Amino acid sequence: MERLRRLAAHFLPVNRPKATVAVLGAAGGIGQPVALLLKLNPLIGDLRLYDIVNTPGVGADLSHINTGAKVTAFMGDAQLCDALSGCDLVIIPAGVPRKPGMTRDDLFNINAKIVKTLIEAVATYCPNAWIGIISNPVNSTVPIAAEVLKQKGVYDPLKLFGVTTLDVVRAETFVAEILGVDPKDVTVPVIGGHAGTTILPLLSQAMPALSLDDDKAKALMDRIQNAGTEVVNAKAGAGSATLSMAYAASEFADACLRALNGDTGVVLCTYVASNVTDLPFFASPVRLGKGGVEEFLPIGEMNKLEQENFEEMKGQLAINIKKGVDFVTGG
Ligand code: NAD
Ligand code: LMR
Repeated sequence: MERLRRLAAHFLPVNRPKATVAVLGAAGGIGQPVALLLKLNPLIGDLRLYDIVNTPGVGADLSHINTGAKVTAFMGDAQLCDALSGCDLVIIPAGVPRKPGMTRDDLFNINAKIVKTLIEAVATYCPNAWIGIISNPVNSTVPIAAEVLKQKGVYDPLKLFGVTTLDVVRAETFVAEILGVDPKDVTVPVIGGHAGTTILPLLSQAMPALSLDDDKAKALMDRIQNAGTEVVNAKAGAGSATLSMAYAASEFADACLRALNGDTGVVLCTYVASNVTDLPFFASPVRLGKGGVEEFLPIGEMNKLEQENFEEMKGQLAINIKKGVDFVTGG
């Protein structure tokens, strides 16, 4: 089904509206490959690349690719207005990545300011845009964005997303390895947030079904929860996941653009303002429509291991959320 949809997208009628998409942090480790993948997306007509450094080179390079999206590069504060004006979707991978030994929360002091500044600009120049935040710690940067948008009077909770797609991509890859099947035929919902035990893969709901004893299920859950650290350690100081993240961000963006275009049945797991639990932000499967989140799908039954992890993560996620809110409100 997914394949058919993608194939159909390549034969879009020429008059179907094409989106304007900005990548903020476009010269970075994630920004460059995600810009490449977005340049290949037929749903995009206008691709804006913004960073505080190096975008002219990245933009010139990408602009030679013979696909339809027009690429424009913007650099520095003075060009942020032009980068954002008229955008339908803004993807934000701006900020510093982890080094071995760091947690995502250790990035808070630097990245909170970067996200706050960029969201202030989004609120001013493209207040109706959908926003996908990649910058860590996602558990806190999304609440920061929400508070900034509220202060600016343009907050639409249905259009603000923390990009947790990489957790799903990883879960599906690892499950497919165990099952010995093609990852494209696997689905695994991942709920909660995007750090440590707040990443909760619902392996009991994997399709096709996975049959693991308790120890193996726990080991797989741990691997998914620590997959970001696995990459950070393997890169040994040279940053965190960039290529797999770019793929995940491109999948996320494609889902948003299909929904914006009126496609039905677009479902993904993402970290959003939510009343699925008693936490104000939570990642869970949602159905997207033209106006953003259209429906929260049920989390479904959790097994004992998942339920225990769910109860345990709530406190951590609440702390992360409060930290983001307090950063903006001074609370
Ligand atoms: P990077 O250092 O390679 O790139 C970051 C880019 O942001 C740089 O080009 C930098 O110039 C730019 N930047 C800094 N301040 C900016 C500003 N004010 N405006 C615009 N651009 C600015 O880092 P990376 O590897 O691309 O990672 C970026 C972020 O994404 C990190 O915070 C990382 O932790 C996070 N990340 C999230 C996920 C996820 O699943 N959500 C996955 C991987 C990485
Ligand atoms: C990831 O999950 O790969 C990202 O959040 C980056 C990181 O710091 O692990």
